[in-house]
Amino acid sequence: MNYRTVVVLLTILTRCSAQLVNLVSDLRRSLGDGEIKDTVNFDSDYDFVVVGAGSGGSVVVNRLTENPKWSVLLLEAGNDEMFLTDVPLIASIQTITGYNWGYKSERLKTACLGLIDKRCNMPRGKALGGTSVINFLLYTRGNKLDFDQWASLGNKGWSYDEVLPYFIKSENCTKCRDIDEDYHGKRGYLNVEHPGYESPLVKLFIEAGKDLGYQNLDPNGRSELGFSRVQATMKNGARCSASKAFLRPISQRPNLHVSIRTRVTKILIDPKTKQTYGVEFLKNRKKYTVRVRKEVVLSAGSINSPHLLMLSGVGPRKDLKRVQIPVIQDLKVGYNLQDHMAMSTLAFLVNESVTISDRGVQNSMDIFNYILNGRGPYTIPGGAEALAFIRTKFAQVESYPDMELVLGAGALNGDLYGSLRSLLGIPQSLFDQVYAPHAYTPAFSIATVLMRPKSAGRVLIKDSNPLHWPLLLPNYFEKEEDVAVMVEGIKMAISIAQSRHFQKYNATLNRIPVPGCRNVPFGSDSYWACAVRQIATTLGHQVGTCKMGPDTDPDAVVDAQLKVYGIKGLRVVDGSIMPNIVAGHTNAVIMMIGEKAADMIKDEWRNK
Ligand SMILES: Cc1cc2nc3c(=O)[nH]c(=O)nc-3n(C[C@H](O)[C@H](O)[C@H](O)COP(=O)(O)OP(=O)(O)OC[C@H]3O[C@@H](n4cnc5c(N)ncnc54)[C@H](O)[C@@H]3O)c2cc1C
Ligand SMILES: *[C@@H]1O[C@H](CO)[C@@H](O)[C@H](O)[C@H]1NC(C)=O
Ligand SMILES: *[C@@H]1O[C@H](CO)[C@@H](O)[C@H](O)[C@H]1NC(C)=O
Ligand SMILES: *[C@@H]1O[C@H](CO)[C@@H](O)[C@H](O)[C@H]1NC(C)=O
Repeated sequence: MNYRTVVVLLTILTRCSAQLVNLVSDLRRSLGDGEIKDTVNFDSDYDFVVVGAGSGGSVVVNRLTENPKWSVLLLEAGNDEMFLTDVPLIASIQTITGYNWGYKSERLKTACLGLIDKRCNMPRGKALGGTSVINFLLYTRGNKLDFDQWASLGNKGWSYDEVLPYFIKSENCTKCRDIDEDYHGKRGYLNVEHPGYESPLVKLFIEAGKDLGYQNLDPNGRSELGFSRVQATMKNGARCSASKAFLRPISQRPNLHVSIRTRVTKILIDPKTKQTYGVEFLKNRKKYTVRVRKEVVLSAGSINSPHLLMLSGVGPRKDLKRVQIPVIQDLKVGYNLQDHMAMSTLAFLVNESVTISDRGVQNSMDIFNYILNGRGPYTIPGGAEALAFIRTKFAQVESYPDMELVLGAGALNGDLYGSLRSLLGIPQSLFDQVYAPHAYTPAFSIATVLMRPKSAGRVLIKDSNPLHWPLLLPNYFEKEEDVAVMVEGIKMAISIAQSRHFQKYNATLNRIPVPGCRNVPFGSDSYWACAVRQIATTLGHQVGTCKMGPDTDPDAVVDAQLKVYGIKGLRVVDGSIMPNIVAGHTNAVIMMIGEKAADMIKDEWRNK
């Protein structure tokens, strides 16, 4: 924790008296929150061992333990969630706590040039619930064509029509409004709802969209292209992480052992038979080995899953040789790293206090409203109120967005405590020059997100120590086309903010240039291209590093059953299996992958 976190925590905590904290735990209990017990006595073997309790792993564990005959051990490096991780508005705070692995990229020549240490922050969740504990709660599923493309690459069973039932199976959208009912579920574990607050900006944004020819629609329904209010993974105004949705309700199942603060260091694979037979892990500085009878399910996320595979002898021969790890299977593990870059720093100043800032919500009314009613500005997921999936002039396919716009109820200049700055990696000096002059002016933001990046990167093993980080080379904006699309998106965002609708509040772009781009005329295409390379940041959607593909694809790591090529008893079930990133936020997509994987595993072992 850094000093800023401490300030934030203290401020919030001192405002919530002990009484209120009790109220919250009563409330939580009444919501049926099961306590998750931390196992210390391990069996010598289990039917399944699941590594990582994130968006993918939590779902798999829930579904596999439905069969009382199967024993499952879930190993998670992080801790359980707590009161503060529940609060949607302060999502960015989570990334400056121990709930984030804290990864940073190597220095790139093409991106993050104006950020702290010239490295990109690559936040990843470390908790029961994984990255869904630190994410911004936005519920989107990507585009139909994303999955049809996966299928057309040779991945049988992954077309949109085949994956849609799994999205629906997970979901409980009983309280959603204005949705395409046929596309949503009401009986699933994952609660989806709208924030309990809406600023006047949302209507203006949606109206501005109509002027551009876009409908106000359900992006998770018939068509994705359009403008909409956000749907969020929360319940009664509090975060609904993968753990809250899928683990807590089943924590009493006797066939489930969960171990937290437990770091898996190796998957044990017999080098001759290539059969997976167990895992090795550390807990409380002690080393353990357990054996597995059926399968190990690797759900450690798009950075740690490829890293663990390489540590276990599955990866590019050349790299494993370099770090002296015996090669069991030569595969292109760690390649194909794809992610969504965003420009989250555009600030639009307004002349009325219709926006949200750290200072603005620091009042007991808003805090009480959140704690007692699960409503008010604290329920806005990471400050994001509305989304738009749109096409720039570069978009080729008719129904396929290449750009997402995210309407933020606040902007970086209102970041009094600095949590947003820390998440993005904005240096203090840049903040002081560009944002501090408007620290007291209300402002909103429109973030632009590059949906279809052409650039791809790599997760590379650094050495054979399992506790050392891998090298992260995301290669953001290596391809010039990616910058060009982003620049178009920025210009569209500005024209929306400066449309007649937002003139009601005299919305004006903050025109103080980014220090690294002062020599370029402000507002020109080359200015925005420069700004993108200086301060664009990831939305935390890293995927693709254990690519799914047919056996004819030399880059594939897993097959359409998510089994690692050449290895028996080992599947990968998380974001890393995506052959291509989807045009949407990734959490729900990865839960879908978990649901589908669980069915495939059940199918395989049904009669064995
Ligand atoms: C800041 C941020 C905001 C985001 N906002 C959104 C959003 O609004 N909407 C959305 O849909 N998506 C969002 N995402 C992305 C989304 O949350 C992730 O894509 C998704 O949660 C990843 O799921 P996963 O199962 O692949 O991995 P994770 O959820 O990261 O799970 C991996 C788990 O494995 C554990 N683990 C790793 N290594 C080991 C080991 N060696 N031993 C034991 N355990 C291990 C980790 O601690 C972690 O709990 C955001 C991401 C970030 C970072
Ligand atoms: C779905 O949500 C509704 C409304 O919040 C709730 O009443 C219902 O019990 C939930 N269903 C399940 C299966 O959890
Ligand atoms: C609108 O904003 C501009 C630029 O910030 C400012 O000069 C002007 O006074 C504002 N007008 C009103 C009516 O607030
Ligand atoms: C804000 O600016 C708009 C447009 O210039 C103006 O119509 C409106 O009256 C202003 N509001 C306030 C509170 O000054």
